[in-house]
Amino acid sequence: MTKYIIANWKANKNVLSIQSWFADFFAEIKQFQEKKLLETEADEAQILKIKNLKLKIIIAPAYPLLMAVDQQIKNLKLNISLASQDLSPFPAGAYTGAVSAFNLQGLNVAYSLLGHSERRRYFQETDLEVAKKVELAIEQQISPIICLDEEYLQSQAQLIDKKDYQQCLVAYEPLSAISTMPGAKDPDIKQVAAVIERIKSIFGSLTCIYGGSVDEFNINEYLMISDGVLVGGASLDGKLFARLIARLENFPSA
Ligand code: PGA
Repeated sequence: MTKYIIANWKANKNVLSIQSWFADFFAEIKQFQEKKLLETEADEAQILKIKNLKLKIIIAPAYPLLMAVDQQIKNLKLNISLASQDLSPFPAGAYTGAVSAFNLQGLNVAYSLLGHSERRRYFQETDLEVAKKVELAIEQQISPIICLDEEYLQSQAQLIDKKDYQQCLVAYEPLSAISTMPGAKDPDIKQVAAVIERIKSIFGSLTCIYGGSVDEFNINEYLMISDGVLVGGASLDGKLFARLIARLENFPSA
């Protein structure tokens, strides 16, 4: 079984600080491997494994860090994929300041977070713009990770071409659970499970992950009911992020 662990660094870090993140992350992962808490399948290009899980680890840094993060991943021979945190709703062309899906070609960007609640809140992003971004990402072979809350789940899904559904991943992120929101609180796990079921019934059986204040203490609870987690605050420290990964347990089913 594969579980997605996605680090969303948001507008934190710069090229000067990522080396220490990777040094910390790598040192901690090595220790867990020595203690046999984590394994890698050498024949499967160093995919990290823990118990019965294969891990798909993805890092979403700010645009200017993409190349440097990719270089660190290669230097350390880690099996980690790259995601952008956003994309322009316009294609390549005369759109000063925008970063199009086309601009990301050649940078090993396999995924893109689209429609994050912070984009909708601070940049007034609409369902229609997010739908355009999804289309442009797919055109450039980038898998969209569509971030959704219940409020716009239905309206967002309606604007995305149904034939594209199976190429998308969805991240269910209740706004009130995002760690930086004032008064953030953990949602009721049964309610999260019900929304994930709803997402899967709307989009078909796609990968659906959960995001909002995920840390090393609650990650297992969320992974019991989802295909992965989107981690913000708890991904900013390389050591803590490795520790969160090493906490994973056996899962009978997704
Ligand atoms: P958080 O952020 O883990 O800090 O709550 C998650 C997200 O906003 O993607």
